[in-house]
Amino acid sequence: MLRSAFIALSENRPLRRFAEQSSIGRKMSSRFVAGMEIEDVLTACEELNRAGISATLDSLGESVMNAEEAQRSAEIYHLLLDAIEKRGLDANISVKLTQMGMDVDPLLATSIVAALTEHANRTGSFVRVDMEGTPYTQATLDMVRSIHNAQGNDGRVGAVIQAYLYRSEEDIKTLLRDRIRIRLCKGAYKEPPDKAFPKKEDVDANYLKLTRLLLTSGVYHGIATHDEAIIVETKKFVEQQGIGHETFEFQMLHGVRRDLQRSLVEEGFRVRCYVPFGHEWYPYFMRRLAERPANVLFLAKNFFRN
Ligand code: FDA
Repeated sequence: MLRSAFIALSENRPLRRFAEQSSIGRKMSSRFVAGMEIEDVLTACEELNRAGISATLDSLGESVMNAEEAQRSAEIYHLLLDAIEKRGLDANISVKLTQMGMDVDPLLATSIVAALTEHANRTGSFVRVDMEGTPYTQATLDMVRSIHNAQGNDGRVGAVIQAYLYRSEEDIKTLLRDRIRIRLCKGAYKEPPDKAFPKKEDVDANYLKLTRLLLTSGVYHGIATHDEAIIVETKKFVEQQGIGHETFEFQMLHGVRRDLQRSLVEEGFRVRCYVPFGHEWYPYFMRRLAERPANVLFLAKNFFRN
């Protein structure tokens, strides 16, 4: 119920405009967002790297309305790829297709992501294409496959699969035929019961099933969750099967379960943190509240304490 309410709020444009311009809103968002400027995200990335944690950098924004906005969004990612190379950071980038102009012209979005992948290839980095709501699932997977299979891009672009979708097992099998790197997450959008498991326990069971499929595939994947029960089961599976710690990574979000991120590193696992930054933080922030409505109380308490 609360989850749906927050997801509905995440799509409210007037509220988004108001929140993103208010100083109170910015202060609240800092719980999950590394800052407003490129330098902020690079500093956060350096700190993570010092703690033995890799990063994936997300320049916030989605659903752009014209080609110029899409190109401006892409330009920020080109700057990030250059900065990652120049500073020798252990980081890659995560992009959303609706930010790259998917709703304006899918061919434009394809050419932008292909150019970013070519840049990542030149600089030894990697492009992760985030997954959005189901209207985009097939188009996103098709695009990742076609860019991945173009000459020289092997292993430089990857997809995200959402365990809440019934279709995900089949999608994973298709992607694995091309040895495409996958980030597995539970899924953060509002989806109808004919497309996604409505119950958390079914999502969690599917998550574990898909994790096992990924970890035995021989391809390097990301297990993106803060769910301790799932992480414990994954660690058990890895030990039982003799799967090397260097053959996969756990992934978590900036500002969520830092304690768990650090303890996994201490245990010798690879961890990557998803670090968002930028002025268009509102939809991302509201999806984080949807995942854990208790965050609202937590934020309110801290807000009045400071
Ligand atoms: P779950 O929601 O069951 O939470 C388990 C526990 O983790 C909670 O009890 C709480 O302790 C903690 N926790 C989880 N979320 C929290 C929060 N916001 N604040 C504080 N504590 C929290 N989704 C998507 O649809 N497309 C995508 O491309 C991505 N990309 C992505 C990248 C990475 C690196 C991560 C970690 C997640 C995503 N997601 C995503 C989001 C994902 O789908 C999911 O909504 C969240 O990760 C929350 O799910 P958990 O697996 O953490 O489990």
